[in-house]
Amino acid sequence: MESGKITPEQEVIGVLSGRSEKDPFVVFEELRKKGPVTPIPMTMGDSDNQVWIVTQMEEAKKVLKDNANFCVDSNTINKSSDTKQSLTNSSEETSSKLFLSNSLNALDEPDHRRLRRLVSKAFTPRYMESIRPRVQEIADDLLDQVQEQGEMDIVLDFAYKLPINVISDMIGVPKSQHEQIYEWSEAIANGLGLGRLDDEVADSLDSFSEYFKQLIDEKRKQPSNDLISELIVIEEEGDKLSEKELLSMVQLLIFAGHETTSNLISTGTLILLDSPKQLEMLKNDHSLIPNAVEELLRYHGPSTTAGPRYAIKDIELGGQQIKKGDVLFPLLKAANRDEEVFSNSEDLDVTRDINRHLAFGQGIHMCLGAPLARIEGDIAFTTLLKRMPNLKLSIPRKDVQWQFKLAAQGLSSLPVSF
Ligand code: HEM
Repeated sequence: MESGKITPEQEVIGVLSGRSEKDPFVVFEELRKKGPVTPIPMTMGDSDNQVWIVTQMEEAKKVLKDNANFCVDSNTINKSSDTKQSLTNSSEETSSKLFLSNSLNALDEPDHRRLRRLVSKAFTPRYMESIRPRVQEIADDLLDQVQEQGEMDIVLDFAYKLPINVISDMIGVPKSQHEQIYEWSEAIANGLGLGRLDDEVADSLDSFSEYFKQLIDEKRKQPSNDLISELIVIEEEGDKLSEKELLSMVQLLIFAGHETTSNLISTGTLILLDSPKQLEMLKNDHSLIPNAVEELLRYHGPSTTAGPRYAIKDIELGGQQIKKGDVLFPLLKAANRDEEVFSNSEDLDVTRDINRHLAFGQGIHMCLGAPLARIEGDIAFTTLLKRMPNLKLSIPRKDVQWQFKLAAQGLSSLPVSF
């Protein structure tokens, strides 16, 4: 290697941790050219196993879908099924440990299947569609507050508020406490990152957990028409969510549904402002918006990578020999620009016929909230374009600031006039 020159393999570590200044899509393109699976000079914890990134669609899908060879919990690698601990049996842990390790996204089969089946009983397509009017109401309320001003910050006034209010509402958090949930969730998102947990975040995590423990208690005593009350009573074949599982699930729903969907709305708005022809098409035909949401998810989806996967055994993948215990990052944003799968993959095309993108992942861990995120995206862009058709950026384009949270790049602010 030439001294001083940063390789794409080094640069992508900066992209994953938010320290890279380079356009991530340029880095991904360089990496795709090298092959679908590339070793990177990164370590995970104390392990000296190789870390790989997976940048092309076919191989990324394989890692996400092949549960016999890849898992999300590194402990699964050496565990036999009879020693596998369920969440209910695990020893006492702090709120921060609980939050990070025991949720649906961090469990392998059979624990994952059990929890997902239970929670899916609440997340039915019919239920999702039924919340449309409420999402519309929340979107309209937010825009009512800024309509007269003729200007707003898309991030702070709209994109950050819509998903957190929607999910808080669904879960059963009283309206007066939505702001508090938003603040905790922001503090947590700002403090967490790939392989790091800042000390200050622990306090917010504790308050967040304490609040939900109490709320669950209240809902047990006095159930109402909300997700917590539903999750409390859901039972299948005599199986129920334990207290710990319920808490973990509620937190995950709040958390997973907030940052990601906010980024879809704010980054999506910027991308559309950057693409006047595409924006014009949407203004003229709102029926294109659901497809535009899919294209925005493909083109610049909120999650750079799925969670790390661990190889359960030695396996060949994309021409590389992966060893048992090695870590793989399926880079969703890189796979979504795979030129073998999408023609003119670097171009935004809201009329594109998209068969499948990876923005919500694939396989057993595929996003539980995808139908909700799609509804929110659809309503956010439709409402924005209907009510503010003259939307334009009110700062120079070069002054738009990006920020890095939770292994994902989003905007810190997007001032617009309308
Ligand atoms: C545009 C918005 C969203 C994006 C891009 C997104 C993306 C993702 C991705 C990529 C995964 C899979 C991660 C992996 O395989 O390691 C995932 C999982 C998950 N998402 Fe989302 N998500 C979004 C919105 C939501 C919403 C609104 C909710 C909840 C209401 C939610 C709840 C979850 C949950 C619970 C999981 C874990 C599923 C499992 O492990 O079985 N997400 N999401």
